[in-house]
Amino acid sequence: MRAWEFSSFGIDSLELVERPALVPGPGEVLVAVRAVSLNFRDLLMVKGLYNPRMALPRIPCSDGSGEVVELGPGVTRWKRGDRVAGIFMQNWLDGPITRARTKCALGGDVDGTLCEFMVFRETGLVEIPDHLSYQEAATLPCAAVTAWNALAAGDIKPGSTVLIQGTGGVSIFALQFARLRGARVIGISSSYEKLERAQAIGLDAGVNYRDVPQWDRWAMEETGGEGVDLVVEVGGSGTLPISLSALRFGGTVAQIGVLSGAAEPLEIPMVLHKMARIHGIFVGSRQDFIEMNRAIELSQLRPIGEEFHWTQAREVMEKMEEGGHFGKLVLTVN
Ligand SMILES: NC(=O)c1ccc[n+]([C@@H]2O[C@H](COP(=O)([O-])OP(=O)(O)OC[C@H]3O[C@@H](n4cnc5c(N)ncnc54)[C@H](OP(=O)(O)O)[C@@H]3O)[C@@H](O)[C@H]2O)c1
Repeated sequence: MRAWEFSSFGIDSLELVERPALVPGPGEVLVAVRAVSLNFRDLLMVKGLYNPRMALPRIPCSDGSGEVVELGPGVTRWKRGDRVAGIFMQNWLDGPITRARTKCALGGDVDGTLCEFMVFRETGLVEIPDHLSYQEAATLPCAAVTAWNALAAGDIKPGSTVLIQGTGGVSIFALQFARLRGARVIGISSSYEKLERAQAIGLDAGVNYRDVPQWDRWAMEETGGEGVDLVVEVGGSGTLPISLSALRFGGTVAQIGVLSGAAEPLEIPMVLHKMARIHGIFVGSRQDFIEMNRAIELSQLRPIGEEFHWTQAREVMEKMEEGGHFGKLVLTVN
């Protein structure tokens, strides 16, 4: 089978190589990968910025969807032809996060999805919603589950206000899920054109963070001086203090990303006076994925992204690095 792998760090090190055919063992399932989506994390992995000590060579990417094509002995959950997606952390099936459950993340601890075939334990998969194409379903395992759990952490209800940062994969899913919950959504972006696109899919108000770096004041004006109920925080360094300032008393920052850096000195009194909750999010469990898929199916929600062929993997990684995308970047595998 063919797979993209990197033997040293850097986008230029990505190579399409031939690997031995895979055979599912007891309790395992062979999946023909149909589509893969990129996450910012995959870019960090390939560049050696996520885990510089990662064992190489490695097949990148956590997210993919495909078709069950072969069953190992004893498999009961799946049959040939089932449409599935892999779960991000293969050991986190249900319940709260533990150190052991965070092990076995695809495209990190173990090989990822940017290949023609993968073997999964039968518990490492979920069924994908019927109305979604393989390309659409490939966007779900990381970005969508993360956004889903961010909204849950903020206990978002009809009438709540959610602030999203940027228009990448996590943020556009957060916008869609916030709308499903009946919330008002405001957002910041570096691009007026992207803000317009976001408004077309439900963003209530937006501001360009390059032109308005103190967007906390804008968020206050948008909420009658109260502040927002939830910030879906993907920036990290430089944005977290502004997010806390934009937050209402008793509000939640769902801390997800470190797009602009990982270290940040904090105004501690702001956290305690507001009784702010900074809630870390690390994707989620298989059960979270299943519950999210149920909501996606019921609402017929469609992920938003741009599609390419998987032979363009390097170019698409570069596109993500440049930040020109809106929503998800998806690769069709054969
Ligand atoms: N904790 C978790 O479980 C988890 C899960 C998924 C992702 N993440 C992290 O979350 C972050 C986003 O991931 P992603 O895959 O959604 O990335 P992405 O698709 O590459 O989105 C990046 C977008 O964020 C916006 N952005 C960049 N810097 C910003 C800043 N300083 N302030 C506000 N917006 C900014 C830009 O949008 P505009 O072009 O509109 O400005 C950019 O296009 C990454 O750090 C990723 O590692 C964490």
